[in-house]
Amino acid sequence: FVHDLLSGLNVLITAGPTQEALDPVRFISNHSSGKMAYSLATAAMEAGASVKLVSGPVALETPDRVERIDVISARDMHQAVLENIEGVDIFIGCAAVCDYRPIEIQKDKIKKNPDDPSETLEIKLVKNPDIVSAVADLESRPYVIGFAAETQNVLGYAADKLRRKKLNLIVANDVSDGDIGFSSDNNEVTVLGEDFEEPMPRASKKVLSRKILKIVARRFRKWKRE
Ligand code: C5P
Repeated sequence: FVHDLLSGLNVLITAGPTQEALDPVRFISNHSSGKMAYSLATAAMEAGASVKLVSGPVALETPDRVERIDVISARDMHQAVLENIEGVDIFIGCAAVCDYRPIEIQKDKIKKNPDDPSETLEIKLVKNPDIVSAVADLESRPYVIGFAAETQNVLGYAADKLRRKKLNLIVANDVSDGDIGFSSDNNEVTVLGEDFEEPMPRASKKVLSRKILKIVARRFRKWKRE
């Protein structure tokens, strides 16, 4: 692993899930552990970058020499990213951002009717901002990498997201296999760009992070020259 691969560069990474409050005690979220993002942050720091992590709620320790900014909801994450984007060379959207949030947060705890066993409850959701797309749309944009966790047609959907979200690279993985992805320490991914596709065999998130950053560093420099 090359220790000056990213020296002098500012890297911003989003991590973990977001939590979307329903009421003061409940939220909607997902199973993201944050492990892939934290592993990328560690690898980027070791490669000489100055690294900031905008992190949703996770049970992980902050990597050495990485600046961590904690957020809860997608809207908090969006705001924290925009506040910290200036001077960023490489943005990695690794968070599993909730696509929707409850249209309003109830001020008081939602109560069930104890006398009505057939009661139903409807929750209306609205779309959250797409953070990685917002960064890719900035006038002076960094090099942007996204992630695509899919359960079917993995490469097809990833290629589609690469174009639609105007990403430079996308890292695709199949989350239908319980041994890899989300909470696992291992993963198996394919890195896609406009004109290439690089499958990476199953490995620890640490090994994969280093391999991913090697590709990122090379492609970033090429993009910079163009
Ligand atoms: O559309 P989808 O959620 O599958 O796209 C995944 C990619 O987009 C990831 O890089 C994720 O971090 C990013 N994303 C985001 N903001 C959202 C939804 C997804 O930055 N609201």
